[in-house]
Amino acid sequence: MTNDAQPDEYERTPPPAVNSYTEWDPLREVVVGSLLGGVFPAWQESMARVVPDAARPVFQELGGTPLPAGLLKAAEDELEGLVEVLESHGIAVVRPDTAEHQVPFRTPHWSSAGGLYAGMPRDLLMVVGDAIIEAPMSWRCRHHEVDAFRSLIKSYFRRGARWLPAPRPQLTDALYRTDGEAHGGTRGGTDGEAGGWAVTEFEPVFDAADFLRFGRDVIVQRSHVTNAFGIDWVRRAIGPEFDVTVVDTDDPHAMHIDATIAPLAPGKLLVHPERYVHHEVFDGWDILPAPAPTLPRDWPMYFCSPWVSMNVLSLDPETVVVERQEEPLIEALTGWGFRCVPVDFRHVYTFGGSFHCVTLDTVREGGAARYLSRPARW
Ligand code: ALA
Repeated sequence: MTNDAQPDEYERTPPPAVNSYTEWDPLREVVVGSLLGGVFPAWQESMARVVPDAARPVFQELGGTPLPAGLLKAAEDELEGLVEVLESHGIAVVRPDTAEHQVPFRTPHWSSAGGLYAGMPRDLLMVVGDAIIEAPMSWRCRHHEVDAFRSLIKSYFRRGARWLPAPRPQLTDALYRTDGEAHGGTRGGTDGEAGGWAVTEFEPVFDAADFLRFGRDVIVQRSHVTNAFGIDWVRRAIGPEFDVTVVDTDDPHAMHIDATIAPLAPGKLLVHPERYVHHEVFDGWDILPAPAPTLPRDWPMYFCSPWVSMNVLSLDPETVVVERQEEPLIEALTGWGFRCVPVDFRHVYTFGGSFHCVTLDTVREGGAARYLSRPARW
């Protein structure tokens, strides 16, 4: 350091380590998950409404044991392919630590035969502006999932990001409906148990993937993993600068909003043709119902529906990463004015998500603008 530095060198502030307000602003840095070492989740009844029926006996029998090696390798190769594509667009990619998922663990109240994976950072972390939020996940097997991302989070914190871990959930039996009546569906509203969701209002729980960011507005759906208590926690944690609006979705299997609503640019919303329920915050937006997925019926799917076809990742307001074989979707998006970047990703679908699920955008250009027409007040 010399004394003759120009004044503006003293005043220049480094760019924030974490800065992401929307799902579509130009992407500069992103976390891409890893399925390495992943295991089948140990079954719990609150999964019944959200995973395909065929998953129950598999999770009951194989919970805590390694995911099928061949399928996992194919999915890992596809993840590496995504990393290459992102880097070729000048986007910095960071990855989680390797973690041991095959270790049983217990709390004073319950035990799990193992963890799951570090494949879906979107499920568990949310970036709002300069803050990283850690979700209190309601699947017991996911209780320690954040560990694989902790060095990254600590590094972002040291470089100025805010770090907001939600209260550690206890996940005792009181959190889960035991009357076999969990049916979900929308219009469950925000009034707790009355909605028929798999989780009660015992304590705040949510998965980060039930939220979407639109600048100063954050949209969220109630689901079988996200309760009203959890939504209230997020609302107060991110503060009065943001409005959090609960939207109905017509999805009895609701878990993660990002195969139901995908905002691709200001005023442009890709939606699931049946699950989407119009809300006044989207008045004035162009709404494109996604074409049906092209996945063969017999494709192995342990966690989710083929509609993860619409779980795309925006690189900027004109460019989206789309699964290569979703040709009807590519055609529809191209006709809507988007540049599509095709990437093979069907083996990743098998393990529960697509491009939006496997990523966490930590740096996008832009700030906290207002995009929604009539933000709801609470
Ligand atoms: N839960 C969503 C689906 O299965 C991602 O389509």
